[in-house]
Amino acid sequence: MRPADMKRINTPELAEAFIEEQVQAVRAQVGDRKVLLALSGGVDSSVVAALLIKAIGRQLVCVHVNHGLMRKGESEQVLSVFRDQMDANLIYVDATDRFLELLAGVDEPERKRKIIGGEFIKVFEEEARKLEGIDFLAQGTIYPDILESDGVKAHHNVGGLPDDFDFELVEPVRLLYKDEVRMVGHALGLPASMVERQPFPGPGLGVRCLGAITRDRLAALRESDAILREEFANAGLAGKVWQFFTVVPDFRSTGVRDGKRAFDWPVIIRAVNTVDAMTATVPEIDWAVLKKVTDRILAEVPGVCRVLYDLTPKPVGTIEWE
Ligand code: XMP
Repeated sequence: MRPADMKRINTPELAEAFIEEQVQAVRAQVGDRKVLLALSGGVDSSVVAALLIKAIGRQLVCVHVNHGLMRKGESEQVLSVFRDQMDANLIYVDATDRFLELLAGVDEPERKRKIIGGEFIKVFEEEARKLEGIDFLAQGTIYPDILESDGVKAHHNVGGLPDDFDFELVEPVRLLYKDEVRMVGHALGLPASMVERQPFPGPGLGVRCLGAITRDRLAALRESDAILREEFANAGLAGKVWQFFTVVPDFRSTGVRDGKRAFDWPVIIRAVNTVDAMTATVPEIDWAVLKKVTDRILAEVPGVCRVLYDLTPKPVGTIEWE
């Protein structure tokens, strides 16, 4: 449990002091041995990676599994920040084809989640078995994970590694709240776009490409999501709206393009404000911003002929569509 006298890390100085303390603690725990980390590019695993690189450099082995359901530019950012800028010992696995083949024809949301989570563990396990002399597993467990779900990383749907992996855990941010993890991430020099990232489900775009995932709709989803993020950032909404993304359903609608009849996919814009994700409201986004996003999606994303804004609060609708 978090000690009663532990100070809230809310200044860069306190973040620096925390980093110094953890660097020493990790060095004492690990010595000259090796640590493995699944680096998704999310806030928690990124902060743990940067902290451990500072403490033990290339004794940390990071594995980034690209399941093909990442947002546009995300895996590239992981590679450029950690491999190019921080000289991380980073194994990159592009498992896109594996995931999409397993998911082909599967339209039930929980089944999709199980496949994605199970396959993620399998790929990570395969990479771990190829490595020799790993004694530790680092995890981005944070304090709410401990409070809410017995210390397992909440909501990641990934299960755990098989029992024959007898790793000792390294969990340097396990006593921190999310805002403190972000403060530490900034102090470690991670880019703001990574540290301030909004929540992104473990199954990624897989639960936003509705029904059975197809490559054409996944591409439309990725491109439309990137446009939405860019335009919300341009309009100063990036830090103000809690979570926003696009969704592509698995039905088509009619349209007219270049004087010809079209029969293409709709894109749904979802934006919500919330404190704890248990309930959520829909922000009144400036009409001009919604129009700009719509115009750009219709002009730039192939296979899309309609854009909608979801006005549903939670309850009744959940934040995600699946
Ligand atoms: P819902 O859709 O339940 O979402 O209103 C609440 C929050 O949880 C996120 N979410 C997930 N995160 N794995 C995750 O790691 C999941 O399967 C999952 N489903 C929903 C969602 O993005 C929102 O922030």
